Amino acid sequence: MDAEKFKNIETVLGIESSCDETAASVWADGEILSNVIASQAIHEQFGGVVPELASRAHHKTIWKTVAQALDESGKQTEDLDAIAVAQGPGLMGSLLVGLSFAKGLAISYNKPLIGVNHIDAHLYANFIEHEVVYPFTGLIVSGGHTRLVHVKQPFDHEVLGDTRDDAAGEAFDKIGKILGLPYPAGPEMDKLSKSGDPSFHDFPRSMIRKGLDFSFSGLKTSVLYYTQEKGEEFVARNLNDICASVSAAITDVLIAKLKRSVKKRKTEHLMLAGGVSANSMLREKASALAGEIGVNLMIPSMQYCTDNAAMIAITGALKAREGEFGDLNLKPFARVQNIASGATKKA
Ligand code: KG4
Ligand code: ZN
Repeated sequence: MDAEKFKNIETVLGIESSCDETAASVWADGEILSNVIASQAIHEQFGGVVPELASRAHHKTIWKTVAQALDESGKQTEDLDAIAVAQGPGLMGSLLVGLSFAKGLAISYNKPLIGVNHIDAHLYANFIEHEVVYPFTGLIVSGGHTRLVHVKQPFDHEVLGDTRDDAAGEAFDKIGKILGLPYPAGPEMDKLSKSGDPSFHDFPRSMIRKGLDFSFSGLKTSVLYYTQEKGEEFVARNLNDICASVSAAITDVLIAKLKRSVKKRKTEHLMLAGGVSANSMLREKASALAGEIGVNLMIPSMQYCTDNAAMIAITGALKAREGEFGDLNLKPFARVQNIASGATKKA
């Protein structure tokens, strides 16, 4: 951890409520002191996140979650130098709960507020455990986004490639649903893939040689037709092999484009981020790639891959360091186009 980088801001509370996780974390003196996550099991029965239920669950848990994060860190609200909160992208109703709570706390205790872009935060989660370095090339793979960025300096992001349709995590979840797995299917597919044969079936590697954007909806359709043709009994008998073959198709595309991006920008540092960066096949292939082309690879440890507030807290600290504070007019944003950190643009 590069404590120098954060020398002016010592203690930051991070609050995350963009989707179905209510989370709070305290970052102080260069380390994460607490990282509390309340997951919402209620959505499982619907096979996906129900926005209204998510907002209500955030509302119910946010106070407890923040109190627990402060308690576990040994800090009081008075000790905080700033309050960082996820501003978007995400579900409007869910974001509003976190944002309103953060504003209330900021007013009551007279603390500065920092709005954090959730996608940026996934990326900067790497700096919780790794040295802060620029420039780097990052691949953000989550339930809502698949995005390749080149980051020259803090919050100066050049978008190299983006999601055209289904994001990587969404592809895992939707394909898993076709295969009869519970939501979210990504972690389960990962587990089953470990004892499967990735060359069992050759699923399409969409747009693997074309540009740096990503498209996974064709793969989903291909799996749907494949399972309809082979029948339920065949799918159940060969589930591990099918999961491994799907994982191979998704990760091959991600790695091919990551490799081209690194070569294009000639970076020495490479990052994975977001929920899908917890995927074991992707982690293995990324580390093989890093060895092959001789670059330094950063991947967050598991707890910082999927949604968490530690990533919001550290990104808040980094933003504070750049003088990027928000105010009580901070508004939530649902879509990635409204990026808060300004400099993001298409290559
Ligand atoms: O970053 P994240 O927690 O939330 C969003 O910002 O979207 O990502 C959640 C996504 C889900 O689609 C989930 O299935 C996927 O990450 N995921 C995985 C794994 N763990 C989580 N996908 C594949 N393998 C995993 N081990
Ligand atoms: Zn996320």
